Amino acid sequence: MTNELINATAYSYTKSEALFARASKVIPNGIYGHFNPVTQKPAGTYPHYSERASGARFWDVDGNEYVDYMCAYGPMILGYGNSIVDEAFQKQVALADTCTLASPVMIDLAEYMVNMIPAADWAYFAKNGADATNLAVLIARAATGRKKTIAIGDGYHGSSPWMLAKGRAGVIEDDHANVIRIPWNDVPALEAALDEHSGNIAAFISSPYHHPAFADNEMPADGFWDNVHKLLKRHDVVSICDDVRAGFRIDMRGSNEYFGYTPDLICYCKAIANGYPISALVGSDSLKDAASAIFQTGSFWFSAGPMAAALACLKELNRIDAPALIMSTGKKVFDGMVDIAKTHGHELIVTGMPSMPYMRTVHEDGIAFHQALCGECTRRGLFLTSHHNLFVSAAHTDEDVQRTLDIFEDAFKALTS
Ligand SMILES: Cc1ncc(COP(=O)(O)O)c(C=O)c1O
Repeated sequence: MTNELINATAYSYTKSEALFARASKVIPNGIYGHFNPVTQKPAGTYPHYSERASGARFWDVDGNEYVDYMCAYGPMILGYGNSIVDEAFQKQVALADTCTLASPVMIDLAEYMVNMIPAADWAYFAKNGADATNLAVLIARAATGRKKTIAIGDGYHGSSPWMLAKGRAGVIEDDHANVIRIPWNDVPALEAALDEHSGNIAAFISSPYHHPAFADNEMPADGFWDNVHKLLKRHDVVSICDDVRAGFRIDMRGSNEYFGYTPDLICYCKAIANGYPISALVGSDSLKDAASAIFQTGSFWFSAGPMAAALACLKELNRIDAPALIMSTGKKVFDGMVDIAKTHGHELIVTGMPSMPYMRTVHEDGIAFHQALCGECTRRGLFLTSHHNLFVSAAHTDEDVQRTLDIFEDAFKALTS
């Protein structure tokens, strides 16, 4: 196995590469953040720019078609171009979108979420996931009068300085001065941190299960959330569920419900509006005064179009019981992949929920083999990343699943023959 391109007849990316060269002159890194091609290895196996998208597929600027298992890194959940969500958005923007006053649709959306999510008595809207996680921490600090937040070691909550890993360019020690990182599933570490900083901890923030990049995803151990909440209660610490990534792919009532616990605050973004820009923080009555006391806002935090899109998206997700549907599609896809890998003499490890699993191949070459496999799938029309959890949508049809498995098999044959 080598990292060189294996099948010369597979997709080529002439236009993508020309655009990237142009972009590199005027945009830092050509493409910044999580879309940066640096994680797309081996070099030359991934496109950089999409032209159009529909259902569970997209087409790149070279005209290559993909069955998409990244779903825009999570926001796409009902399919690209979903007519119900798009029409709700368009109907609202024809009336007003970003305007001088808030729109009543904001109240409709808040009411809908409060009715749908048992832990929610109120909702606050913003744009990105990091807005919601920032809001949550600020509210916890306002409510408790304390400084510190406990988070999981490699848990991701956005790209504000306090959330980024230490050592990232531009991040300084002070940004982390009030963040304590503990390992996932480590109740004694949580207890030790709470005892050591007793009276200084405002919040504990965590995703409902552990979904880091470049590592197997991990479920909560038996009794984990129960034990966590006993400790948080004893120390009067606010429990923040970061459901930005898993939200609506596990349980419409909040992924915490699936795992059997009740946080004080839940952060949403990604799939809430099938791709329209909006995030939400919901919380319990006990934190409503603190939420009222903080000042957090943004130029586009009142845009009504994405709120109408979110309302339509959530109603549709509920109507079709999207989490169950997506989970069952994910099971078909990833069980199928495990079987194909086995027939080629390889072990494919799939962790996390079937609606957004993390996948890696066991191989003596380490991650290089899995990167080559995902690259070979991608350049045959099955878009997979090798470093991040994948995402399944309600728009993935049986035909998409069959095409997925056919391409996966073909890529395996190319790599192992
Ligand atoms: C769990 C989690 N929290 C927060 C964020 C930050 O969201 P955003 O990139 O929209 O700021 C992400 C983004 O990937 C995430 O996965």
